[in-house]
Amino acid sequence: MAIPEDVINEIKYRNDIEVTISQYVNLNRRGKNLVGLCPFHSEKTPSFTVYPESSSFYCFGCGVGGDVFTFTGLIENLDYIESVKLLAERSGVSLPQDGYDDSMQRLKNTVYDINRETARFFHSYLMSEKGKWALDYLLGRGLSLATIKHFGLGAAPDSWDALINHLKQKGFSEADMLTANVIGKSERGSFYDRFRKRVMFPVINIRGNVVAFSGRAMPGEDKQGGKYVNTSDTPVYKKSENLFGINFAKNHASERIILVEGNMDVISLHQAGFQNVVAPMGTAFTNEQVNLLARYTKEIVLMLDADAAGQKAVKRASQLLENTGLSVRVVVIPDGKDPDEYIKKNGAERFAALLEGAVSDIEYKLLMAAQDIDLNGDDGRLKYLAKAAEVIASDEDVMTRDIYIGRLSEKYGVSRTALTAKVEEIRRKHKKSRQRQEFSDIVRPNLTKGDINPERRRSLKGTAAEETLIAVLLQHPDFCEEAARLLPKEKMITSLNRRIYETILYTVEGGRALDISVFSEKLSPAELGYLVSLQNGDKAGKNAKTVLKDCIEVILEEDIILNSNNDSQTSLDDWAANLKNMIDKKSKGN
Ligand code: UTP
Ligand code: MN
Repeated sequence: MAIPEDVINEIKYRNDIEVTISQYVNLNRRGKNLVGLCPFHSEKTPSFTVYPESSSFYCFGCGVGGDVFTFTGLIENLDYIESVKLLAERSGVSLPQDGYDDSMQRLKNTVYDINRETARFFHSYLMSEKGKWALDYLLGRGLSLATIKHFGLGAAPDSWDALINHLKQKGFSEADMLTANVIGKSERGSFYDRFRKRVMFPVINIRGNVVAFSGRAMPGEDKQGGKYVNTSDTPVYKKSENLFGINFAKNHASERIILVEGNMDVISLHQAGFQNVVAPMGTAFTNEQVNLLARYTKEIVLMLDADAAGQKAVKRASQLLENTGLSVRVVVIPDGKDPDEYIKKNGAERFAALLEGAVSDIEYKLLMAAQDIDLNGDDGRLKYLAKAAEVIASDEDVMTRDIYIGRLSEKYGVSRTALTAKVEEIRRKHKKSRQRQEFSDIVRPNLTKGDINPERRRSLKGTAAEETLIAVLLQHPDFCEEAARLLPKEKMITSLNRRIYETILYTVEGGRALDISVFSEKLSPAELGYLVSLQNGDKAGKNAKTVLKDCIEVILEEDIILNSNNDSQTSLDDWAANLKNMIDKKSKGN
């Protein structure tokens, strides 16, 4: 049964959307609304909009939207009922005692129970006589008994049904075990334990619930199922949204959180006194994980393996982190070791020193750019400087760019001016392609132009000209002045295109760039999609100026025809004169 509507409204009323979202997103006022960088995808220009009037939000970049419950659910990783409960709690609204516990919540609770019981089963097996092989392995890797208990490590017996039998005895059904993904079902329909003869790492979420498992095969026995077997997504677990170790790290995150590659690294560093460490489990680093970290810390230190895969991961992670306001540093571990091996060999002090020496993201990239280049010859240096200029250009802070331009010019004996010019040239190129990208990021292929702009029926020819005009102006903002002179905005035939045209002229007049966010206040999501399709449609190419003038001519002609049916003769005369005037100008050349 659902929560009564008046209770929902009460909770909504007490959790003002602006106040609630401000706790997570830095919002700036824009007219009646507020805008900020979307917490659900990474972006450079704010397209996340909060509408206090309708108590709603919408992101024009990634398309998410909804009310205060939707927002809370997305950001706290809760379902609808859970976020209603959370907001009720926060604002002191008491919920009716029964009736709101829906079946999904019951299933989740069962899965939590199964996971907890499974973790207990694996742990006591590890500590029993039969689990000696696994305990020996963990102790042999330098873990203490205290660490093993702290992380609740365990072992899965070499059996196809030990866990099933145990859980059955505890009263759980096979269907629920399957949902928890601790067992599998064969093609013939029989159930089997998913984790067999593996050392088991329980994954614990921020609220302290066991949500998943990661099982490591014994050395030399990873043929079947791979080195690690992990829980797939379940009603309580999404691997893209969780991090191993977050349950501990969140309480030690005031300065920074260290991101490493493997669970063993997390555990090993923990034992050495570094509790602010997390690892993604067998997935690439995701936006959801970034958002999770951003709730607890200001700085991320990336400590990934020095191999090619590790470097690729650093690149991806630093891209994801770029727009979050989190600062990023990178530690390169010497000798191609992983953090686990390094700290065992060199101890906690040397590790701490390594952490101190963490370089900024840009320094790291400059280091990597020098790889495989011989810096002794002029050829090599030029090649390096070209790569380095790309790296510097990608930094958004003008002072940072200046500092590194200075350093490089000194070190490699090139003039500061030359290097600055190179960097700025690259930035201009990037900016253009980014703008294009931002427009095309929003694609709404299901709606036809006619659905979105119903007035197009009034004049297909005129509307097509309007659309081309808009496309040309988006590509050539410098034509706006001339367009404004030849075509007053009132003459646009359809009101949608008039609004777009108006916004374009207004924005360019104000000296601002034509980002998608400029339109987000004035256009609906569907209308924005339409704009994107215009932007990506036919390109006018070299003849853009001529095309623009032709379009204006058609629009003015169509306007005359449309208005001659019902309007007075004077406006017809006016526009005939105007048209003639324009054609005269055109014949004198562009
Ligand atoms: P590694 O192979 O580096 O393992 O994979 P590791 O953590 O260093 O473990 P040890 O030291 O060899 O025991 C790094 C991480 O990638 C995931 C696991 O989460 C692992 O911790 N992984 C790796 C998988 O999910 N599946 C695999 O088959 C291998
Ligand atoms: Mn390792």
